[in-house]
Amino acid sequence: MDLGASLAGRHVLVTGASSGLGEHFAKLVARCGARVTVAARRRERLDELSATLAELGSPEVRALELDVTDAGSVEAALAAAGRIDVLVNNAGISDGRPALDIPLDLYDAVVDTNLRGVWLLSTGAARAWRDSGQGGVIVNIASILSFRVTGAVPVYAASKAAVLQLTSALALEWARYGIRVNALAPGYIATEMNSEFFETDAGKAMIKRIPMRRLGNPTDLDGAFLLLAGDASAWMTGTCITVDGGHLVSSL
Ligand code: NAI
Repeated sequence: MDLGASLAGRHVLVTGASSGLGEHFAKLVARCGARVTVAARRRERLDELSATLAELGSPEVRALELDVTDAGSVEAALAAAGRIDVLVNNAGISDGRPALDIPLDLYDAVVDTNLRGVWLLSTGAARAWRDSGQGGVIVNIASILSFRVTGAVPVYAASKAAVLQLTSALALEWARYGIRVNALAPGYIATEMNSEFFETDAGKAMIKRIPMRRLGNPTDLDGAFLLLAGDASAWMTGTCITVDGGHLVSSL
């Protein structure tokens, strides 16, 4: 079965697409022939990415400036995007410090980006899907820190746990509108968010605790991502797929 086949011609909006996993997901769906809207704060990066997405096979590409924490910005981006079929809530930031070193504005930024952002985009898209009667698909990017904790990311872990519970709650409420809401929980993959950490002794020690003894590559997520975004998961909602080299089952 070609998991990406049903995405051809569909309109996929990816938040936080200016780097890392978001950029990867945008390229992945472009290769499937999806129409893609990439949305993030760094406009110049999106313009470069747009050209690449067209080369990869996307028949229609839009780049939109978007701050997921800002209700006005979200509303404007959804209006500019037009009818979308798949929303990928990927934008996220981390705290990266022990709890007692986290100022309140950093706490707010992490919760606003990782949770309020998912809320604003999801409710905005769902209103349009409910009103049009056409339904839609949401893929929330959670984390293995939705399930377990490690040091120095307390707000991130709490916000990602909340994303999972929100995934379940929205799936329950919106199934009647033909809207499916699922989550993908990646383990550690080196991106702008964390690559410095994996150069440190603590980072190297962490990699050794992953049962499969390596970090993930963005491509390790492709199967689960395409499953959740496309029609192969037509009867799945309110669930989460973990892709982590076994990290969640590491020995306590
Ligand atoms: P990244 O830092 O490369 O990407 C995050 C993206 O979100 C960036 O493009 C950034 O500009 C964007 N962003 C941040 N705040 C924003 C805002 N207010 N409005 C719009 N865009 C905003 O990091 P990465 O790793 O690609 O992260 C993508 C998602 O994957 C995040 O939700 C992250 O929590 C999640 N994740 C990453 C893992 C990893 O090991 N890299 C593991 C598990 C989850």
